[in-house]
Amino acid sequence: MEDTTNSSDLRDFKEKVIDIRDLRKSFGDNHVLNGFNMRLFKGENLVIMGKSGSGKSVLIKCLVGLETADSGSINIMGHEVTELNRLLLDKLRAEIGFLFQGSALYDSMTVRENLEFPLRRHKKRFEKSMDTNAIVMEALENVGLAHTLEMMPSELSGGMKRRIALARTLIIRPKIILYDEPTSGLDPITSKEIIELMLRIQKKYETSSLIITHDVDCARVISDRMILLVDGINYAEGKYNELSKAQDPKIKAFFK
Ligand SMILES: Nc1ncnc2c1ncn2[C@@H]1O[C@H](COP(=O)(O)OP(=O)(O)OP(=O)(O)O)[C@@H](O)[C@H]1O
Ligand SMILES: [Mg+2]
Repeated sequence: MEDTTNSSDLRDFKEKVIDIRDLRKSFGDNHVLNGFNMRLFKGENLVIMGKSGSGKSVLIKCLVGLETADSGSINIMGHEVTELNRLLLDKLRAEIGFLFQGSALYDSMTVRENLEFPLRRHKKRFEKSMDTNAIVMEALENVGLAHTLEMMPSELSGGMKRRIALARTLIIRPKIILYDEPTSGLDPITSKEIIELMLRIQKKYETSSLIITHDVDCARVISDRMILLVDGINYAEGKYNELSKAQDPKIKAFFK
């Protein structure tokens, strides 16, 4: 894969869309997050790497209010998540897209129905200009799968399902996208296609993305910046090219 990390140097990241300060979360004696700090800037692709069980999913759950942090602050686009009531939290969630591990399409629904689902959930936002067909078609064309409109998930390959799931994430036009292991379980060529799609979408819609991954190739190609989550803190932070040359054994372990 060609090195694209330099292109990001031309962009200027100033506006914070997520600001996490001193986040702590324990389950009994298991201190998962121990004072984690993170900033995501507008238009940025931020990769978080951490070994299995290090707290990456817990972090994402705290971000969207599915888990309650013990202490610390989580600010998303100017809103303090820990202080929002249900209604406001739902409103904020409507601005955030998730792509969770596996595609998690509804098996009993066609591709079209899968894509219509989030539109119905966020009806209020789409009611006025609700040309559902056009929105669904644009979303499918974005991922190069317009011909699958009336197909069932069981008729699609793993890579196609992941692309449909990405289309479904994008259909609500999120300002922030959270990806949990977007390339896991895919072969290298399909992974590369998904990564290219993520980059294209980021450019087209100027979304800000938080990408959790174990995939070093994915991190290299997609990240503007990386954070390594070790022992519950943002242990190291920097561009791929800097971190991959570090001598610290805890950092080196990620790039083997
Ligand atoms: N609801 C919960 N109750 C108790 N412990 C939990 C809960 N959720 C997570 N944990 C613990 O928190 C730690 C971090 O879990 P988490 O799922 O965030 O790991 P992860 O970094 O996402 O790992 P993986 O790469 O395997 O997905 C683990 O030790 C896990 O057992
Ligand atoms: Mg996880």
